[in-house]
Amino acid sequence: MTILKLQNIHYISDNTNIINGINLDINEGECISIVGPSGSGKSTLLKLCSDLISPSQGDLFFKNKNYKEYNPTELRKKISYCVQIPYLFGETVYDNLSYPFETRKEDVNKIKILEYLYKFNLDESYINKDVNSLSGGEKQRIALIRNLIYKPEILLLDEVTSALDKDNLKIVEGIIKDMNKSGTTVIWITHNIEQSKSIFNRKITIEDGIIENEEELN
Ligand SMILES: Nc1ncnc2c1ncn2[C@@H]1O[C@H](COP(=O)(O)OP(=O)(O)O)[C@@H](O)[C@H]1O
Ligand SMILES: [Mg+2]
Repeated sequence: MTILKLQNIHYISDNTNIINGINLDINEGECISIVGPSGSGKSTLLKLCSDLISPSQGDLFFKNKNYKEYNPTELRKKISYCVQIPYLFGETVYDNLSYPFETRKEDVNKIKILEYLYKFNLDESYINKDVNSLSGGEKQRIALIRNLIYKPEILLLDEVTSALDKDNLKIVEGIIKDMNKSGTTVIWITHNIEQSKSIFNRKITIEDGIIENEEELN
């Protein structure tokens, strides 16, 4: 089943054409690698897919229904976008990890938060840490947990492992791979394509705001 469809997507900002007519069908359960030179429009493409910005022309469909017909909050719970340089809010790690529960008006599940911290190679001492005291790699993992603690239907990742060392990169890749196996569709902008090749079933190259190449993997 097609979970995400992009139909003739254009995006123009300040009279500059950034996305120049992208057509793309993504099936449920796919794990897609997005590559391409810096400035080619990769991040803009994910922002469009996550409904953070709207196309200047063209339409997006989630499960055959136009984005315009969804309540934006509803869509954002199903489609989760993790940015490269994460923004952590509030004062502590807890402020960030309790947020997904609060926004759904559910009781904060502290046990689940601890489980996820351990899964991401962070111990329980992190829960009360000041967000400003964290390293780049720790921030990236906390932001990932905030996005993943409720399993999204589509996970959009924007170079989210850039600050991770080798061991933590492996851990995070393993978690994403497991999520994909359990049904989450993944679209991932990454430079480490060789290293993580086994995860992906398709590689899409973006250049000058269009799909320059598409390749089935494995
Ligand atoms: N809101 C914006 N207004 C104007 N130009 C933008 C905006 N967002 C991105 N751009 C420009 O669009 C191009 C594509 O950006 P981006 O999608 O971030 O590329 P990538 O992620 O592939 O490096 C870049 O030249 C960037 O400067
Ligand atoms: Mg980018």
